[in-house]
Amino acid sequence: MRLLITGGAGFIGARLARTLLARGQLGGRALETVILADQFPAPPDLAAHPLVQVMTGPLLEQCAQLASLKLDGVFHLASAVSGECEADFDLGMRSNLESTRALLESLRSHQMAGHAPVRLVFSSSVAVFGPDDAVPMPAIVTDTTLPTPQTSYGIQKHICEHLVADYTRKGFIDGRSARLMTVTVRPGRPNGAASSFFSGIIREPLAGEEAICPVAPEVAHPVSSPRATVEGLIQVFEASREAYGGRTALNLPALNVTVAQMLDALAAVAGPAVRARVRFERDERIAGIVARWPTGARADRALALGLKPEASFEDIIRQYIADCQALPTAAQTLKGLS
Ligand SMILES: NC(=O)c1ccc[n+]([C@@H]2O[C@H](COP(=O)([O-])OP(=O)(O)OC[C@H]3O[C@@H](n4cnc5c(N)ncnc54)[C@H](O)[C@@H]3O)[C@@H](O)[C@H]2O)c1
Repeated sequence: MRLLITGGAGFIGARLARTLLARGQLGGRALETVILADQFPAPPDLAAHPLVQVMTGPLLEQCAQLASLKLDGVFHLASAVSGECEADFDLGMRSNLESTRALLESLRSHQMAGHAPVRLVFSSSVAVFGPDDAVPMPAIVTDTTLPTPQTSYGIQKHICEHLVADYTRKGFIDGRSARLMTVTVRPGRPNGAASSFFSGIIREPLAGEEAICPVAPEVAHPVSSPRATVEGLIQVFEASREAYGGRTALNLPALNVTVAQMLDALAAVAGPAVRARVRFERDERIAGIVARWPTGARADRALALGLKPEASFEDIIRQYIADCQALPTAAQTLKGLS
């Protein structure tokens, strides 16, 4: 199996690569090569792995070369994040829409050269959902809720879902789109995503730092752990066409939580002193974006594939702590935990 992971140096892409390399196979086929394509260099542990090849540069410039690589599978995760796409319209159109179209075209030329259609999983987002004046958004979005995205990022993801569906209908690829919930707890520093605080209010207090929550405690949102998200992507890849069903995108499983419940879980796992490092200071820009997001999600198609959400937010925090403890930087990331 020759596998490409775009966005392979990112949060989910690197974690997916490590999980797959540890498994050694995908869909019952042994991994021969895992190509990590990203504008940034791959993490050193992955770059040093004997099965890994690294391609560094903008995806749009790499797509012509990808057509000659005789790929069997693709996880397409490269993407500019929501806040970046709102701030820089052209960046979002280039990184998310034009790059995806170019990738699909390179896979199409691969199929037209006589190879089997490449199986591709596209990482879409819960951000495809939003309230439109003509189409009110239900409190809980499902696989069949009509997406009416209210951000450029959400629009680009939604267009790409449809491109993946049409390239599949035409037989150019075997494509699937999985809508990721907000993945938390994300390690490292805050990023440009408007959802960044959903990780920051857990990660920073655990590191002994103060965190500011820009939205009210009663704000509810569908989240997922990194582990459940990676398992979801793999399961969607491995599902038969019949089990996946249709060509439209599916929701990955969500744990629907409020900010207050997240902070209660932090107190339960790490103690009240850690919880007390979070204070509320409303940020109108972020609160305005979050107010247009779903307050919960259901994932019936993913559940039918055997996927499950995490049982509790406490479990997600414990998973983050265990992940940090497995890393050499643990002392830094957990120095606030007594
Ligand atoms: N993390 C979440 O909460 C979340 C939620 C919904 C959807 N998603 C989607 O899941 C995927 C992975 O998310 P993530 O959290 O790992 O994001 P990330 O930002 O950590 O990783 C994305 C990677 O894509 C790379 N990239 C961006 N534009 C590129 C370009 N033009 N050329 C080459 N590389 C480029 C970045 O350098 C980065 O390493 C993305 O498609 C994202 O939209 C993530």
